[in-house]
Amino acid sequence: MGVGAVSDYHHVPAIRLDRRATLVAACDADSDLLHKRGLDWGVDFLTTDYHEICQSDQVDAVVIATPNFTHGPIAVAAARNGKHILCEKPLGLDADQVRTMYHAARDASVVHMTAFTYRFAPSMRYMRDLAKSGELGQLRHFRSQRFLDLPETSWGWRQYKDQAGAGDLFDMTIHRIDFAIDLLGPLTRICGSVARFATRDHTASGEACPSSEVDDWSALIGEFSSGAVGVWEGTTLAKGYGLDGFGHEWAELNGSEQSAVYRLHEPNKLWLGRTGSDLAPVDVPPQYLVPAGSPRDPKDGVPATVFRYDLMWEFVSAITQRRDAVPSFYDGLRAQLVADAVLQSHQRHVWVEIPDEPR
Ligand SMILES: NC(=O)c1ccc[n+]([C@@H]2O[C@H](COP(=O)([O-])OP(=O)(O)OC[C@H]3O[C@@H](n4cnc5c(N)ncnc54)[C@H](O)[C@@H]3O)[C@@H](O)[C@H]2O)c1
Repeated sequence: MGVGAVSDYHHVPAIRLDRRATLVAACDADSDLLHKRGLDWGVDFLTTDYHEICQSDQVDAVVIATPNFTHGPIAVAAARNGKHILCEKPLGLDADQVRTMYHAARDASVVHMTAFTYRFAPSMRYMRDLAKSGELGQLRHFRSQRFLDLPETSWGWRQYKDQAGAGDLFDMTIHRIDFAIDLLGPLTRICGSVARFATRDHTASGEACPSSEVDDWSALIGEFSSGAVGVWEGTTLAKGYGLDGFGHEWAELNGSEQSAVYRLHEPNKLWLGRTGSDLAPVDVPPQYLVPAGSPRDPKDGVPATVFRYDLMWEFVSAITQRRDAVPSFYDGLRAQLVADAVLQSHQRHVWVEIPDEPR
């Protein structure tokens, strides 16, 4: 559901790679785009009404890739009709909405998955194993930078609070909040800030539109229950950080034995260093390049693009193996609680405790 950019770039190529899955239907509110995609993707069952997809016997599972404010109602309708759900991040506009989605999917016993893409980068998967096995020593610091150089024209639905929830924070930084929790465990307290510099009151073709209401910079510092600490910064206004469209991403763990650095634009390498030896790239071992059993050839395509197809492999694997998908809606909820706390911290100028969330 939603046949826009991310479906065309990530999800449909990933379904095509996976012999266990067939694309049988597509839904979008924009019927011109929907019919174009129907021709491009070879799909006949096309509708502008997501209820038709949710109620169809032809459909076992749905991918929700619509604007953020629509994820909640679509996910709840899909869960009530027994459909497995892969939903884009952020799952919703706030933690209350996301909790409703999580409970609906959990209570319907469908597979539910949040599209936290960067967990699937080969170097991230390798770094996670080094962290969990103790190779890096005691984990002390986490550090994340995500810098993009995006045009200062309208972001469409993404720049309005009632449709997007927040800007860079919910669009970009939330991925980094998720993988930090995955690497280091729960966050207990955070102090955050957001800012908006670009007014975005014109479209790329020069038409006037209402100004942006959302952040284009976000940052937080946080404390993990393990005793580790973290610092995150994201911006879409970092001039000169285009890097072939992938932007700059740097995520780092400093352990008592080693530091490890993941970089999005070279996801098949990890930078490692210890006292007396400077950080240097190592090749990610072959077992991390694709998930077990996946037919994807890691030598095909642009590395920073093709690992995104591995989300679908995980989703379909969870369905066929009758197990939970990782990351689930619960993970989407935990990241949302932290992202919401960043906004509260910014508004109130205080540190904010992160509440425990029952499964
Ligand atoms: N995981 C990632 O790395 C990643 C990357 C990009 C986008 N996203 C997320 O994916 C989602 C979609 O982003 P996008 O860039 O593809 O946006 P987009 O604007 O290109 O596409 C969204 C599509 O949804 C359609 N739509 C709107 N309301 C609808 C409704 N009620 N029913 C059916 N279709 C509807 C629109 O017409 C549009 O074609 C967002 O939540 C975004 O945050 C995630």
